Amino acid sequence: MSDTTYAPSPEFAKSAHIDADAYDRMYAASIEDPDTFWKEHAQNLDWIQPFTKVRNASFKPGNIDIRWFEDGQLNVAANCIDRHLATRGEQTAIIWEPDDPETPALHITYNQLNEKVNRFANVLLSQGIMRGDRVVIYLPMIPEAAYAMLACARIGAVHSVVFAGFSPDALANRINNSGAKVVITADEAPRGGRKTALKSNTDAALLHCSDKVRCLVVKHTGGQTTWIEGRDIDVKAQMEHASPDCPARPMNAEDPLFILYTSGSTGQPKGVVHSSAGYLLYAGLTHKYVFDYHEGDVFWCTADVGWVTGHSYIVYGPLANGATTVMFEGVPTYPDASRFWQVCEKHKVNQFYTAPTAIRALMGQGKEFVEKCDLSDLKVLGTVGEPINPEAWNWYNDVVGKGTRPIVDTWWQTETGGHLMTPLPGATPTKPGSCTRPFFGIEPVILDPQTGEEQTETEASGVLCIKSSWPGQMRTVFGDHERFEKTYFSDYKGYYFTGDGCRRDKDGYYWITGRVDDVINVSGHRMGTAEVESALVAHSDVAEAAVVGYPHEIKGQGIYAYVTVMNGVEPSEELRKELEKWVRTEIGPIAKPDLIQWAPGLPKTRSGKIMRRILRKIAEDDFGALGDTSTLADPSVVDDLIENRMNRK
Ligand code: WTA
Repeated sequence: MSDTTYAPSPEFAKSAHIDADAYDRMYAASIEDPDTFWKEHAQNLDWIQPFTKVRNASFKPGNIDIRWFEDGQLNVAANCIDRHLATRGEQTAIIWEPDDPETPALHITYNQLNEKVNRFANVLLSQGIMRGDRVVIYLPMIPEAAYAMLACARIGAVHSVVFAGFSPDALANRINNSGAKVVITADEAPRGGRKTALKSNTDAALLHCSDKVRCLVVKHTGGQTTWIEGRDIDVKAQMEHASPDCPARPMNAEDPLFILYTSGSTGQPKGVVHSSAGYLLYAGLTHKYVFDYHEGDVFWCTADVGWVTGHSYIVYGPLANGATTVMFEGVPTYPDASRFWQVCEKHKVNQFYTAPTAIRALMGQGKEFVEKCDLSDLKVLGTVGEPINPEAWNWYNDVVGKGTRPIVDTWWQTETGGHLMTPLPGATPTKPGSCTRPFFGIEPVILDPQTGEEQTETEASGVLCIKSSWPGQMRTVFGDHERFEKTYFSDYKGYYFTGDGCRRDKDGYYWITGRVDDVINVSGHRMGTAEVESALVAHSDVAEAAVVGYPHEIKGQGIYAYVTVMNGVEPSEELRKELEKWVRTEIGPIAKPDLIQWAPGLPKTRSGKIMRRILRKIAEDDFGALGDTSTLADPSVVDDLIENRMNRK
């Protein structure tokens, strides 16, 4: 842990939206009188019907009910597009940078975005999609992904974007769980010079779905696909014929805008539901203040729209602010490790937002790749998704930021809609590895994990909870409000439980120490160990599996699987490869185990509970600290696991 502090430069602070004094004043106001604070900031949105109630939120057990601006009406797409047309219709809304650097980028103006979204919305209407209907979006990083999301918002349909790296099975689960009437996909997704056959993945998924589900296909590469008449629809062709006018439907503030599936510690991924007004307000406000976005800036978030980061900081936040947002189809290392920096130079990017895993991977390639590019337009650098180690922070600061650009390490979650703890670049002195202080309206507390008591000393560590609601908070788990309450409000009553461990230092700075539940964070992608386990045991040769995370130099955490094979099955290299492939097809490449250890037995308590703490320690190659193993049914299994451990330092 580094305690070096980097203060914002006085020049930066002077022209920033928020300096240190403003932060203190506004933060205090937001906590003392949240209704007034949020009422004022909600004027940033265009309301069709103004609200009279600001906040109505209860974290009380048995009555978890979160509402913001509940009697107001607005339309999210109109806020992201229509209201900008009079003043910035000819300004670029989206810069699309294709996978292949030789293909010209697209500059889509707000007027053009408006036309595309209206046409797309009419195509959805012509398919019988109505307010509240679910639409699954399984697309590459192409402008149509943004058109589709905004088209849903325009007519009041609820989108659920599924990351294009997920397998047909994972896609089918999400289509079925959300009860979607339509899935929108593309023929192929080019990434890093290779193509993924998204349409054939979708075909495979639809074998497990109701045959009423329609498939809208964006012909992107023109690659060959099978075509099922009556089910498959060519979106681009339909858009050409559709009317360019589609009225934005007035929606209630609390109507769901989208569902996004995310991994938890147990069971299948949950459908996190976000609202219309509260979500948009929070995404827009954090985008403006955290990145110190100013009129005319070019903003680039390198995430995929399949994750919440892409929702809030490629599409909704930047467009709500009338910004120019960059959407990148490719990967950081194609054609070579200078691609990010070339794109920054080419499009004169002002704010750049990426994940620590990308920084670590690029750091390993050497600084020449950065230094040959002109990064003089950069003003603010951001990171998200996992704790950033001070080494990577320093490289980002020195090599990319030339020591003069503030870095915002933003801590948040799919569930939170936007940043909860983060520096503000003109206000907050930063410390490498710390997400520093709470954003406006956020009251973090550190609880003792055993007693659940609030730690009131400045220096403290424990589990991180949030004391009261903020507008961007998720509202429920789709179709399962009970699970919402159980997951987030039952371990520590009266608080929102984040699942993260945390330390607060003597200056009141927060340091996220990682998940305290069975969620692992692989290259900034959230993965439930239970999901990988259930994929493994679905293989006929596997009797039992236990999955834990272990420290991985580039990915942050790697996936370590302990596998017990069925009686009569011989573990082999071949089976190992087969299982890796199996998990890729069951969930997707991001879930492939990095290490598989054959385990004749797993350490269990006498009541049959797997002792994950022990498995974690062995995976970390830290078996000296196994702690008490006396409650194990058969302590000798541990010796075998240690002896054959895979991650030796
Ligand atoms: C982790 C991504 C440390 C954390 C927006 C959280 C972080 C989980 C940071 C949410 C950060 C995210 N520092 N850890 N700056 N940002 N995390 O839902 O464990 O994909 O609970 O949302 O990522 O992951 P999710």
